[in-house]
Formats: sequence, C-alpha cells, structure tokens
Amino acid sequence: MSAANDADELAALAMTLKRHLERRRRAGVRVSPKADAPQAKTVNSKNDSSLGGAVADLFAATTAGAQANSLEELRAAIGDCQRCKLCSGRTHIVFGVGNPRAKLMFVGEGPGRDEDLQGEPFVGRAGQLLTDIITKGIGIKREDVYICNVVKCRPPENRNPEPDEVAACEPFLKKQIDLVRPEIIVGLGKFAVQTLLKSNAPISKLRGKWHSYHGIKLMPTFHPAYLLRNPADKKLVWEDIKQVIKELNGENA
Ligand code: URA
Repeated sequence: MSAANDADELAALAMTLKRHLERRRRAGVRVSPKADAPQAKTVNSKNDSSLGGAVADLFAATTAGAQANSLEELRAAIGDCQRCKLCSGRTHIVFGVGNPRAKLMFVGEGPGRDEDLQGEPFVGRAGQLLTDIITKGIGIKREDVYICNVVKCRPPENRNPEPDEVAACEPFLKKQIDLVRPEIIVGLGKFAVQTLLKSNAPISKLRGKWHSYHGIKLMPTFHPAYLLRNPADKKLVWEDIKQVIKELNGENA
C-alpha cells in the first residue's frame, strides 16, 4: 500500500475512533485509565490555572472504585464501607448529591448530625446557608450543582477527620471529581481546602484566589458553619462567589 493510502486509512480510523468516543461521551460513558495503559501526562501543578488538565490520573487504577464509570458505580464500590473507624458511629454514608455533570461542585469537610441522619450533605443549618448561596447568590438550583465532602461518614462530635480517615476516603472524593469533572470546585472551609490543595496555609490566606486542583479551577472560601458564627465575613464569601459567577459566565476569558 502507498504512503498516501496509509495516511488516508489512518485518517479514517482516527475519525471513526473520534466519533465512537464522542458517542460514548454523550452517553455518559467515562474512560478510566487501565493499569497497563500508558498514563496521560499529568497536569497537577498546584497553581496551574488550566481547566483542560488531565484529571484521569486523579485516581489510582488499583483502588476500589477505580473502574467505576458513573457515580452509581462508585457508590456501589464503596458498599457498606468499613475502611476506617468512622464506620462505627455512622447512621448513613453521605456520598454526595446533585447533577452528575455539574459545572460547579462544592466540597465540604464531612457530614454533621443532620447529614448523618438524612444521608445527604449540607442539610442542616450550615447546609441551608449553602443552599441560599447557591440559589439566592449564584441564582441556580441546588440540584444543578454537585455537593459532597472529603469524608463520607460523620466524625464523632463533629471533630476534624483524622489523617487515616482522610487517607481511606480521599480516593473516593478524587474519583467523584474525576467522574463529575466540574469546571469549578468551591472548597468550603479550611479542612476541605487544605486537604484538596495539600497545603497548611490558613483559609484566610487561601480564600478569594483561584487555585488549581489537577487542572480544575478551585476557589476556596469560608465554610458556611463558620459564617453562622461570624456573619460579618459573609461579605468576603460573596466576593469569592462573585468570582465564581464570573468564571461560570465566561467573563474572565
Ligand atoms: N459541614 C460539612 O462540611 N459538610 C456537611 O455535609 C455538613 C456540614
């Protein structure tokens, strides 16, 4: 076969593959990296502001749930989780709620009492404030965004999750982010933001500026529970949220 024929055949194959992947993408099928496949180049610099970064590397292919192609499959892989000591005190695993294809994702610390009882994140007083931020502030429905936490089970007395608990649960958060692939993540409060960014900096220094989580834009802001105790800082959160709105509207392009 001539070089020209080879090139034509290659182009046709590439087009077929592209159409096939596009159909799978529209059908909601995600492509998970196989353990033996060459890895995509990782864009994981903490300050890389590119939204196009590879996020497929977020989740080690050997961890439970790695092959999940949907949030339902990931939830099934978590099962009746006993991977850390938080399982002993929980009522429900609080996996996450919202639009599986949301452009905007909120990540909190871990379920509180109300969330543990109802099995849904951010449904207590702090959750009501978050809902107001989404509906009254941003002007979209709560169901349009995706909401989850770093750890999926309530820590006793709402203490901070401990390192072994985060280590057990973080792969599932990463996979959730990989599956939803939001354009923007809003990190709620010091604990969630420090966990996502692997930073010890105070939330007062991190908030209000764009960061990158494996190529996804991340805006840290204060936790709604903190705002209930410090309502004067609501105006700072509003500043952060205005930046998120601009980004969602493409006004920063
Ligand atoms: N605080 C959190 O961080 N998450 C919740 O789901 C509720 C309160």
